[in-house]
Amino acid sequence: MKIIQITDLHVGRADEATMNVDVRSNFLNILEKVKAANPDLLVISGDLCFDRPHVTIYEWIKSHLDTIEIPYLVIPGNHDESTMLAKSLDLNGLLKNEEVYYLKKWDNWTCLFLDSAVGKMSDEQYTFIENALSNATKNCMVFIHHPTAKVGVPFMDNKHAFKEMEKIQGVFSKFDGNLNIFCGHFHVDRIVQFQNQNIFITPSCYVQIDATSNNFKVDHYRIGYREIELLEDRLLTSVYYL
Ligand SMILES: [Fe+2]
Repeated sequence: MKIIQITDLHVGRADEATMNVDVRSNFLNILEKVKAANPDLLVISGDLCFDRPHVTIYEWIKSHLDTIEIPYLVIPGNHDESTMLAKSLDLNGLLKNEEVYYLKKWDNWTCLFLDSAVGKMSDEQYTFIENALSNATKNCMVFIHHPTAKVGVPFMDNKHAFKEMEKIQGVFSKFDGNLNIFCGHFHVDRIVQFQNQNIFITPSCYVQIDATSNNFKVDHYRIGYREIELLEDRLLTSVYYL
């Protein structure tokens, strides 16, 4: 099973200034790569919208996703609004009290898709995670917009981190095995090993952030995506830049 993850598209409204980055072209270019790679699944891990969410942005993205004939799944980021995203992308069935979270199983893999859009999660979502992990296969993975541990990127770690790290780490650490967690949000390419968790941070389709700076600073403008191949007893993953 081959999955491609793209993240942090930050597409603006038709008339919105996007800091001199042609975010719509970026998305269309990355979609061409996805089409050529022909994965079994495309996952978009949040921040579809540039700054503030808008129905027309989701509709524009969906109109292009629907042309590539590759199944796709979406979770929201902090620049999305979960209810608006679910309604605009026809994910109504996945919406639970203003959060979009769900579970998929393929062969011997379990995959959780979580909603960290507001930087924290409801008690219901934590209960869902606990139940899902207690019934999960040994091979288990998670998609969540926010990294769930500090990753050594000072600007994002200090100013924009997930607000309930200890709480979610407590839930993840109870899983009897290694959890592979795929995130976006930080606009960097990084892998962090923490407790039983391998945290893979995928670069953005917008700009990459300088991982050493205390303040917002663009590192570079090349956009990237992640490929994940699920095998019987391991996964292989790489980041590719356009
Ligand atoms: Fe982002």
